[in-house]
Amino acid sequence: MCGIVGYTGTRQAYPVILKGLKRLEYRGYDSSGVALLKEGKLKVYKKKGKVAELEEEMIGKEIEATIGIGHTRWATHGEPSDRNAHPHSSASGKLAMIHNGIIENYAQIKQELLNKGYTFTSDTDTEVLLNFIEDIKKNNDCSLEEALRIALKRVSGAYCILLIEQDNPDTIIAARKGSPLVIGIGKGEHFLASDASPIIEYTKEVVYVNDYELAIVRPDELILKNIGNEKITPYITKLDMELAAIEKGGYDHFMIKEIFEQPSTIYDCLRGRLDAKESIIKMSGIDQNIDQIMNANRIMIVACGTSWHAGLVAEYIIEELCRIPVEVEYASEFRYRNPIVNKGDVIIAISQSGETADTLVALEKAKENGAFIFGVVNAVGSSIARISNAGAYTHAGPEIGVASTKAFTGQLAVLMMMALAIAKQKGTVSKERYDHLLLELEQIPEKAEAILKNAKELKKIAEKYKNASDFLFLGRGYNFPVALEGALKLKEISYIHAEGYPAAEMKHGPIALVDDQLPVVFIATNDPYHEKIVSNMQEIKARKGKIISIITEGDTVCPGLSDDYFSIPLVDELIAPILTVIPLQLLSYYVGTAKGIDVDKPRNLAKSVTVE
Ligand code: G6P
Repeated sequence: MCGIVGYTGTRQAYPVILKGLKRLEYRGYDSSGVALLKEGKLKVYKKKGKVAELEEEMIGKEIEATIGIGHTRWATHGEPSDRNAHPHSSASGKLAMIHNGIIENYAQIKQELLNKGYTFTSDTDTEVLLNFIEDIKKNNDCSLEEALRIALKRVSGAYCILLIEQDNPDTIIAARKGSPLVIGIGKGEHFLASDASPIIEYTKEVVYVNDYELAIVRPDELILKNIGNEKITPYITKLDMELAAIEKGGYDHFMIKEIFEQPSTIYDCLRGRLDAKESIIKMSGIDQNIDQIMNANRIMIVACGTSWHAGLVAEYIIEELCRIPVEVEYASEFRYRNPIVNKGDVIIAISQSGETADTLVALEKAKENGAFIFGVVNAVGSSIARISNAGAYTHAGPEIGVASTKAFTGQLAVLMMMALAIAKQKGTVSKERYDHLLLELEQIPEKAEAILKNAKELKKIAEKYKNASDFLFLGRGYNFPVALEGALKLKEISYIHAEGYPAAEMKHGPIALVDDQLPVVFIATNDPYHEKIVSNMQEIKARKGKIISIITEGDTVCPGLSDDYFSIPLVDELIAPILTVIPLQLLSYYVGTAKGIDVDKPRNLAKSVTVE
């Protein structure tokens, strides 16, 4: 949530920052801005709207500078507007700051500053913190770094902040707690950003800043300190990411690129871990902790959004294969509801970004209680990956479209392999079923490819229903969470109201919505409940609802009941969600684009939710 970029070195800072902001726009895009510092003059430019609008605003402006900071915002305190956009300037005009996060006790600090005669030009918590820092600096006659350290001791909440100062021509001061910060190390230059995407073009050597750390960054120097003013040796890691992975590569949107990448991202996820011929699954995070996981009294899965849906699928699979009780929790509920977590409990945290604030805090809490944390994360080196005791990356590569697609199928692949590995060790799955499921998983990339070949069929279906005001998504068993995910995808990127339901539960409420205008999407692939779902279709048809069904090739019953249908290859019911979700992703994409929506940046959403 909110993207931040900083540069200090010998290049022109503005083009580096602008490009970086475009790469980070998935984190928030209601306004953006830059602050540039040249020869003791601090210039701040900001604009409501997407980064492209800032770019236009900047034409003809003074942009020469070799140090600067930039921000793309997802509003928390104060509506999206020019004046609430970052960077903010301090009362004296000598400091400029950008911030990602929330200062929870800002109201109290603001009151103190108001009492001292400060006035504010925005509604943001950021401007309050900035003036608080300036006030401390003035009163204590200390350096900016010292003032920042004192201020942060008073502050509660989450932040990643970058500060520049008029009288300090080449230095960026940064601090982090709860919101991510990566520093790229170049030759005589440094890059700072919320994630590595603005950096990889220039250097692959990076330092991930940890919570409660401050960085003093100059072209030739990176000093890392903790909040107690002790120096820390920066730990440099090499990025394993290529520039092409964060570019559209000829596709109209990142979302469709990411949907079409799934055969290869799923393959990458399985590669080196699954060998059906040898009948083995090798996952070091599981293998090294097998006793802990296998003997857990219960497993709790904690996640948000699409990742939570992956957790629901995992609940069904783990209980079926491993016979371990599983609970799936929304991280935002888990962290506040005083859940019972005991030593030895296993928590599986699922997160694409690895930075979701609610998930992160929930894990910290569970860890304090002695739980063992297993992270299923996509972003390498992210906070959740680092806080976990063990884990498995999904290897889906950078996901930039706000609506999660390839990360979801990667999560499912990892969770399925995990369940199979645990079940084998525990002896709760027969050799025959284990071998069959391994084979089925191995065939997924090929089957996903076959689905994508027919994507145009879904485009036609999308055209037909794009003006509907509501949609219902229904599924049973392993495909019930897929119905939830299908509804979420459609809501996110087409703004059509959609609900997902277990198909049978539909009779207890949603059926009242059915009329000849309502499209009802059934996930009705071959599984033991197929006849039941066919009955549910009949119930909708009898009430004149429009039926769109996702079926298995060769199904002779569902086409006759459906207004439209899309076939997928035959697949075991346990593995099916990895495939059944793909047509739903495509349907949403095509409805969204047919309605002219910017599907990569739908209104109000952000990809990485680093505030509660
Ligand atoms: C946001 C994104 C979703 C994502 C959710 C959880 O809402 O828009 O796509 O599923 O956060 O994020 P995580 O990174 O923890 O999976």
